[in-house]
Parts: sequence; C-alpha cells; structure tokens
Amino acid sequence: MATINDNFIKIPATYLFSEIAKRVAQHKEANPNAKVIRMGIGDVSLPLPDAAVDAMIKAAEEQRHAETFRGYGPEQGYAFLRDAIVENDFKSRGLSIDADEIFVSDGAKSDTGNIGDIFSTNNRVAITDPSYPVYVDTNAMGGRAGEPNNQNVWSNLIYLPCNAENNFVPQLPQEKADLIYLCYPNNPTGTTLTKAQLKVWVDYAKANGSVILFDAAYEAFITEDDVPHSIYEIEGASEVAIEFRSFSKTAGFTGTRCGYTVVPKGVTALSESGEKVQLNKLWNRRHSTKFNGTSYVVQRAAEATYSAEGKKQVKSLISFYTENARIIREGLQKAGYTVYGGVNAPYVWAKAPQGMGSWEYFDYLLKEKNIVTTPGAGFGLSGEGFVRFSAFGSREDTLEAMKRLEK
Ligand code: MLT
Repeated sequence: MATINDNFIKIPATYLFSEIAKRVAQHKEANPNAKVIRMGIGDVSLPLPDAAVDAMIKAAEEQRHAETFRGYGPEQGYAFLRDAIVENDFKSRGLSIDADEIFVSDGAKSDTGNIGDIFSTNNRVAITDPSYPVYVDTNAMGGRAGEPNNQNVWSNLIYLPCNAENNFVPQLPQEKADLIYLCYPNNPTGTTLTKAQLKVWVDYAKANGSVILFDAAYEAFITEDDVPHSIYEIEGASEVAIEFRSFSKTAGFTGTRCGYTVVPKGVTALSESGEKVQLNKLWNRRHSTKFNGTSYVVQRAAEATYSAEGKKQVKSLISFYTENARIIREGLQKAGYTVYGGVNAPYVWAKAPQGMGSWEYFDYLLKEKNIVTTPGAGFGLSGEGFVRFSAFGSREDTLEAMKRLEK
C-alpha cells in the first residue's frame, strides 16, 4: 500500500489563513447582517494599476493572432521582465545583479515554500519568531523541523524570538544555523532592521557558511532612510543570500500572481562529498523542472509596473496603504493599545488588552466588533498575546474599524 509523507500529519491540519477564513465564514453565516471588516490576511483592496491592466489587454490581444501568439515561455521568465527587474530594482540602487540571477515565478509564497527543495534535510534552520507560517510549515513538510510539541514548537528548528524586549531585532543563535529565514520589513510585526543590524546576519552567514533566505516582499513600504530595500545593499550578501520579491503587495497582484527570486551565482553550499555547488544552478534546475513559467500576459503586466506611468500608479497604491497603516497605528494608540510596526510596513502589531491570548482576542474582535485580524500566535509562540492588523483594506473600512475600537 502507498505510504504518505508523515510530516504532513505532524503539522497543524489547516494553514493559518485558511483557518481564519473558516472562522470568518462561520461567523458570517451565523450573523448574515453583520458588516464584517477584513483586516486579517494581507490581501489588497485597490484594483490593479491601469498600466498593468492595459499591458495585460495588449498581451491578451497578441495571444489572439498567430503572428504574435506565444506558447511556452522561458521557465525563468521573459528577458523583457528580468531586464526590467535588474534595471529598476537593483541597478537603480547601485546593486549589481545579472538577469540570469532572477527567476520569475507566480509569487513569493511559492518560492519561499519551495526553496527547501534544493537543501538537504540535515540543515539546521533558524526562523525568526513570529514569522510568516510558510517557513515553518514547509520545513516541517520537508523533514527539517523535527517533532512538534503541543504548542507547535519544533524540536529541530532554531527560533529567533523577536519581541518588545529586544526591540524586534533577532539575536544571533547559540547553535550554528545553516539556513536563516529573515523577512524585512517584517511580516507579521511590521518592524525593520537597519543596515547595521542586517550586516550582523550577513557577517554571521559568511563566517558560518550559512545561507540567508531573505523575504523582501514588503520592501516597497519602506519610508525610512536607514532601512535596506534589498539584502544586497549589505556588502558580501551576494555570496550568502537568496532574496524573494513579490508584485502582490507592491502592485496589487495578489490575485494576478507574479514574484521573483534572486539567486546570485556567488551563493554556494556543500554537496555530500564536500564540493561547493552554485545554488543558482540548482534552483534553475528545480525551477525549469517543476515550473513552466508565469503566464506571458502576467509578465507583461509586471513589466508595465516599471514604466513611468506604472511607477507613478504603484507609488500611489503604496501611499494609500501607508496612510491606512498610519490611521490604524494612531487609532489603536489613541484607544490605549501598545502597537509596533506600521511605519515601513502595511502591518500593525498590537498587544491584546488585559493579558488576553491571541486567539481569544481574535474571537472577541470578530464576534463583538465584526473586525477580522490575524492572531499573533498563528505566527509562532512569540506572537502569543498579539494580533496583527492589515492596512490593505479600503479607507472607509479602516476608519470605521478604528471608530469601533475607540468605543
Ligand atoms: C499575510 O497576510 O501574511 C500574507 O498576505 C500572506 C501571503 O502573502 O501569502
């Protein structure tokens, strides 16, 4: 009889955001007239920028005619998009990344989840706590996490607590970490690292032969100067870091799906026989075997976000959500909450009042205020006692939510 990958029965039965969606659906069914405000999953509410939609229409029209029709494209992404990425996201910041170090995909969730394919199960994995649940769940699926206890803390993972006491700056681990997941601006806390703080990790990785998996999905929300937009702003990072980017939050592509991963040719890891192997080669092999390319139409849309008009439109989307984040941060503070983040990120991390637990407070907000948040404990043990507010809603909903909380 066939047998399963047993790691799947060790992880929680439902993915965090699916569990929340289930609870919200139950609440709506029981209260059909409730005006529920969604501040849970970081899904955007504004439509796509015109430049992206126009590019999709044009590309779709090309697909109608034999002369311009395109079938399978390069798995790694079309040159027009990889070149635009290099030019606008890296060269413009003085960073030297080559087009063949960019791998276009259907989003950062898939890439941060799939990257484990190219690493052995023996790696010790360090993950900031709290963190985006995909990092822990996919390492557990891949057999790198060990065994969970009843609080879903895994025996082989190295947790890097980020809390008010350490100002949400992870400390270097006591044990040697081979793979290190860092997400900045941070999901879920909305906090950031300065260049000097990030350099500590790059230096650690260089000294210990570790690889940093740097999730920069929220870089477009950075407003402060000393916050790096890319890990490659730190000297030496192109020897030790893989970076993940997304068009989801930047340009509203949550439903359109496009992202990319940067695997510089200088990043290596050891084979079983002790040979240094370029990760770029392995990821290229993995990507071209398991992925058939982001659709042409979507890649044209992503390219258009780098046009002069596209950039302007994207900037205005980001400003809109940044203003929402300010309204949430200040609204919660006025209502007496202790809050973090929301300055360089679309998330505000709020301490639940009166020592309430995350899920308890999540349920209270849903049932009593008709506001959906994300319980901090869903992001890890250090998230217990917090909830996360997303700034991706409409202005009307954001203001209304703050009014409900003031009361
Ligand atoms: C979140 O809410 O943490 C994100 O939207 C989830 C995601 O990007 O997959």
